[in-house]
Amino acid sequence: MRHVKLGVNIDHIATLRQARMEKNPDTVEAARVVYSSGGDMVVMHLRQDRRHVQDADLERVRQDVKGNLHLEIAAIPEMEKIALRIRPDSVCLVPESPKEVTTQGGLKLDGRSKELEKTIKNLSAAGIEVDIFCDPEPQAIRAAHNMGADGIELCTSKYSEAWGNKLQAKELEKLQLASFLVKELKMQLHSGHGLDYYNVAPVARIEGMDCLNIGFSIISRAMFVGLKNAVSEMKRLIQ
Ligand code: PXP
Repeated sequence: MRHVKLGVNIDHIATLRQARMEKNPDTVEAARVVYSSGGDMVVMHLRQDRRHVQDADLERVRQDVKGNLHLEIAAIPEMEKIALRIRPDSVCLVPESPKEVTTQGGLKLDGRSKELEKTIKNLSAAGIEVDIFCDPEPQAIRAAHNMGADGIELCTSKYSEAWGNKLQAKELEKLQLASFLVKELKMQLHSGHGLDYYNVAPVARIEGMDCLNIGFSIISRAMFVGLKNAVSEMKRLIQ
């Protein structure tokens, strides 16, 4: 059996808590359930506006829960400093803009960027795996590789949006070709954004896929079946 890892993004546990500025639902409790239900890593996005995950969530999940922690951050000095303090196992550098509802595509890379290269170097030197969120475009993937990233997380939002219409096959093919390149470059291959219980299987079956990072669909399903069942159902679908 292939082992495609499942990273469960728990940002929206924090979104719900922030709606009342209370202690519950608790991200530490969520992280424990994720690991005990077959999730391979807990994913948290610390946004500059702190709209969901707070710095204290990261500190507590890192300290109180045993397991792989994957942090999504913008490649800016403030976030680099926090990552170096929290020491997640891995980081994904993502683009971020203040008014977006969610991440809008991968980092636009068409060559080396000195600042980004330095951030990658500093995080790597601290023993943190560094992934870059990229659209399935060869130019961006090669640039991330040239700057020393360990892995690529392919953005699946266009594929997810195309689910059920005539562009679906084309978007899946783009992901397959990009995945081939990532593996040729001997990098870690992750994918995510917009994946759900219906559209996940073809992406999970792409040759060489190491990990899928999924949040919104799992947390939404958890409302009705509980987080434990929502995580284990997704885990079953990606094997
Ligand atoms: N990967 C990245 C880089 C993201 O920014 C997000 C959203 O935070 C996800 C994966 C998860 O996306 P979704 O919540 O749509 O599953």
